[in-house]
Amino acid sequence: MWHGRFTKDPSARLRAYGESVSFDRRLALHDIEGSKAHAAALRKAGLLSLREVSAIKRGLDAIAKEIRAGRFVWREELEDVHMNIEAALTKKIGAAGAKLHTARSRNDQVATDLRLWMRDETAALIASVRRLQKSLVGLATRAGDAIMPGYTHLQRAQPVPAAHHLLAYVEMLDRDAGRLADAARRANVLPLGSGALAGSTIVLDRALVARQLGFDSVSQNSMDAVSDRDFACEFLSACAIAGMHLSRLCEDTILWASTEFGFLRLSDEHTTGSSLMPQKKNPDIAELARGKSGRLYGNLVSLLTTLKGLPLSYNRDLQEDKEPVFDSADTLGSSLEILAEMFGAARWETKRMAVAADDALLVATDWADYLVRKGLPFREAHKVVGKLVGQSVKRGVSLRELTLKDLQAACGLFKADAMKCLDARRSLQARTAEGAPSPRRVADRLALWRKRLAAAKS
Ligand code: ARG
Repeated sequence: MWHGRFTKDPSARLRAYGESVSFDRRLALHDIEGSKAHAAALRKAGLLSLREVSAIKRGLDAIAKEIRAGRFVWREELEDVHMNIEAALTKKIGAAGAKLHTARSRNDQVATDLRLWMRDETAALIASVRRLQKSLVGLATRAGDAIMPGYTHLQRAQPVPAAHHLLAYVEMLDRDAGRLADAARRANVLPLGSGALAGSTIVLDRALVARQLGFDSVSQNSMDAVSDRDFACEFLSACAIAGMHLSRLCEDTILWASTEFGFLRLSDEHTTGSSLMPQKKNPDIAELARGKSGRLYGNLVSLLTTLKGLPLSYNRDLQEDKEPVFDSADTLGSSLEILAEMFGAARWETKRMAVAADDALLVATDWADYLVRKGLPFREAHKVVGKLVGQSVKRGVSLRELTLKDLQAACGLFKADAMKCLDARRSLQARTAEGAPSPRRVADRLALWRKRLAAAKS
């Protein structure tokens, strides 16, 4: 494509080192869409005849068909997806194909392709996020009114409905969907028309191209447009944060599926055995998804590092943007899908949860609240109950086994009704503030998510 100025072909090593077609062929169909819109602009500028435009369109459609069918022959020596398609087009239709690259550079072309690809990929990822949310809402629904210990510092803290715990992840995932949508919205700007870096003496109707490709606007600085990969960083960042959420969800799942917790049973289909220990049932999916957060972070750091210190405008370094972006899309997408499937088949061990949630220590704070209602400052109430907890631990009995006399010795404000405080369900009933886990609040939120997700595309 550039041999005019050269007397020797690129070395075989350079070809192998520099080629991107082995991975950027993923952009092929978007590249073709971009070329069709560019042809329409060339036509409007009087640089292509109607016949030439329709030949280009027909040629590109035929190429798209071959690509979809897996019949297209990709050639490494043509370096990238753009030159492969252009060469195939010119071979098919002749001179008109050779006119297509007028007033266009691969620099504005690749930026356009990647934005188009990301827009579609983001929509697909958001649909996968919705599927996982639905699956979690299903599992939350199957928990019914089951209570489990809620943890801080991984120490038993206060009782919570199992549904409330899962809905925390549904909220997180909703923010992930929002971040992906934001990234896609900011990416939806047309770079094409920026040329290599300084536009072109051949002036095309960029608004027409933008409209045809569904971009909201056109870029306003040609140098920025060919070197900007902010949109890819935002995409990778949204994927990394979502991966962090999945990793935490998986960690909870791995704990719950352990013998020590025993709250959740994963189906045989979604666990693996050990080649050595016949009794093992391992939560590999959750472990893999937890582990893959590492590559999602790595991909973000990889691109940020590539971009750091690049002078304006286009530099070949930018070719390194694609593999992390593709990998994050694949990694996050497959994790979301398999987790949705896994949680869909998981079952609660409600008996184990009930036993764990029945620990009276979980509602010790309710005694402090009781004393506060009788007028004691919270700090003092906290100390009184702390002493009672200390006594019960020392005597090796449950808080419930302390007598009213014991309580009154600690604080005169305790009356007979104090014993009723040590009931997890009663404790939850009282937690009625917005966002708090009273059964009513949780049921309302669950119903709301069910409704919202039924309406969401997935
Ligand atoms: N494969 C290249 C990339 O991904 C396309 C742009 C090449 N531009 C250039 N001037 N060599 O960035």
